Amino acid sequence: MTDNNIDVTDFRNRVVLITGGTSGMGLATARLLLEAGAEVVITGRDDARLDRAAEQLAEVSDRGARLLTVRADSASLTDLDRLAALIRERHGRLDGVFANAGVGVFQRSGEVTEQDFDRSVDVNFKGVFFTVQKVLPLLDAAGGGSIVINASWTLHRSLAVAPVYAATKAAVHALARTGQ
Ligand SMILES: NC(=O)c1ccc[n+]([C@@H]2O[C@H](COP(=O)([O-])OP(=O)(O)OC[C@H]3O[C@@H](n4cnc5c(N)ncnc54)[C@H](OP(=O)(O)O)[C@@H]3O)[C@@H](O)[C@H]2O)c1
Repeated sequence: MTDNNIDVTDFRNRVVLITGGTSGMGLATARLLLEAGAEVVITGRDDARLDRAAEQLAEVSDRGARLLTVRADSASLTDLDRLAALIRERHGRLDGVFANAGVGVFQRSGEVTEQDFDRSVDVNFKGVFFTVQKVLPLLDAAGGGSIVINASWTLHRSLAVAPVYAATKAAVHALARTGQ
């Protein structure tokens, strides 16, 4: 499969960061990219879950040689700085970023606490913004690259139990349109 003469099935020598790579879409994307030959960095908040993801990816990552797992909370700028430093140390650059880490708090407006609101905004919006900000110099070092942000269909269709979730996804949609 080709796209503008780039073989999109060949990721050899490409370095890709996936935030939230311990389960779901992040883990599945890590598997696909590793199968296509990429060097992959995945994040999550919990060492045990990261270890389990590494085990699940062992076969496709040359027993972990092409996989770096980093415990990093996307809502923590300290963690994001550390993540960028570790990637710089290991690879010196990034060719792609999948800003995927996110949390779904599904409640009607009347049930949403300040804590729920802050957690959703911190991970889904602030986390995505600062993930991209912190790793952008690594993409520049690679001479460009791609950033993919995982938003949601709740942007386009109403879901009564997702007022805050949908708003955080609308925010990152706006970020993607605006650029940085
Ligand atoms: N499921 C859907 O129907 C759907 C549809 C559209 C979009 N999405 C979006 O797609 C993304 C992935 O969803 P999923 O369904 O694959 O969910 P999932 O299986 O729950 O995966 C979420 C991932 O994000 C990580 N994560 C959560 N909070 C984090 C934080 N503060 N810092 C770093 N990592 C964090 C989790 O890692 P740990 O728990 O190990 O920390 C996990 O790896 C989310 O942004 C979600 O909003 C989901």
